[in-house]
Amino acid sequence: MRLATRATQVTPSATIGLTQKAAALKAEGVDLIAFTAGEPDFDTPDAIKSAAVEAIKAGDTKYVPKGGAELKKTIAEWTNKQRGTSYEAGQVLVSCGAKHSISNAALALLEEGDEVILPAPYWLTYPETVKLAGAVPVAVDASPSQGFVPDPDDIRKAITPKTRMIVLNSPSNPTGAVYPAEVIKAIADIARESDLWVMADEIYDKLVYEGSEFVSILDAGEDMAERTLLINGASKTYAMTGWRIGWTLGPTPVIKAMTAIQSHLTSNPTSFCQTATLASFENVAAEVEEMRQAFERRRGVMMEAMKALDKAVTPLPGGAFYVFPDVSAYIANKGFSGSVEMAEWLLENAKVVVVPGEPFGNDACIRLSFAVSDENIERGVERLAQALA
Ligand SMILES: Cc1ncc(COP(=O)(O)O)c(C=O)c1O
Repeated sequence: MRLATRATQVTPSATIGLTQKAAALKAEGVDLIAFTAGEPDFDTPDAIKSAAVEAIKAGDTKYVPKGGAELKKTIAEWTNKQRGTSYEAGQVLVSCGAKHSISNAALALLEEGDEVILPAPYWLTYPETVKLAGAVPVAVDASPSQGFVPDPDDIRKAITPKTRMIVLNSPSNPTGAVYPAEVIKAIADIARESDLWVMADEIYDKLVYEGSEFVSILDAGEDMAERTLLINGASKTYAMTGWRIGWTLGPTPVIKAMTAIQSHLTSNPTSFCQTATLASFENVAAEVEEMRQAFERRRGVMMEAMKALDKAVTPLPGGAFYVFPDVSAYIANKGFSGSVEMAEWLLENAKVVVVPGEPFGNDACIRLSFAVSDENIERGVERLAQALA
């Protein structure tokens, strides 16, 4: 069967086998502990749920006229308040999750053969999205000893005449790294020098912990708004992963192009989910802060538990809800081929599910989510330590 080249170039999920095995073991009644969660384990705040119910009852169940003008206006105002910018509603596109925002942006800006710089470890969707748009992902590695923060000089060295975009994701999935102001500023300078787009995925901006401070690429100067696509969404901040609401802010011509693409792919994100999102932002600030504090506490529980894995190197995550330990000593000890084989072995032998680092661009690491109860963090890491001892 002949498939389109673009379909054959997308890497199938490295974790499908693992997920299937985990599901089978669970169905057999095996007591598994999963560190795979990529979403808050809290419920969506009541105010948002009620707003959705009200919207459905009021008949807000049709195509969305005017592209959801009220939500766009609110997102522009909210972003301006947070970032000191001056976006207008026409510079916002609401999509079906930030993942959709990112693919719209890639389709609108990338040509066949363009290169896109991805600081690695990266969220595994970025390289696949870049490839789907016909472009070429170029990884720039950052090590655990750098706290997984890329060295701007390494980014500069990776730039060629074909480079079109840099993707930034601070706080990062999978590492939790929060880029300091000087790194953000240096990356902004590189983007200016080489006339590049910056796609700044700031979806974890409200999940930042003591010792770290969130800095946006837009803090590097007013002019950066002209070359930045700012990606954010409701999923992580408001525990709304299933609602599928994400958004992009950027220069009007790009937002118009993305809007045209989206209009043919999906029309609009779900009507009542957009209306309900209007009840988030400032209205649920207390719930957001409560979640943030819970994750900050669990980060402490996770870091304490990780001491049992004394051969792992675990940089303290400044944000998001993941640790990304370097487990190369255990990989070498046990003779695993890499992180995927290690994760499969841990599932069988420790009855713990972790995500291998390989698809995130670092095969020496594994990802553990701390969007998990304290008890399971402690029990799960203890199981890992015993199995690997
Ligand atoms: C860095 C990053 N960006 C974007 C997303 C996607 O978010 P959404 O649920 O809004 O599509 C995720 C989800 O895991 C993520 O980790």
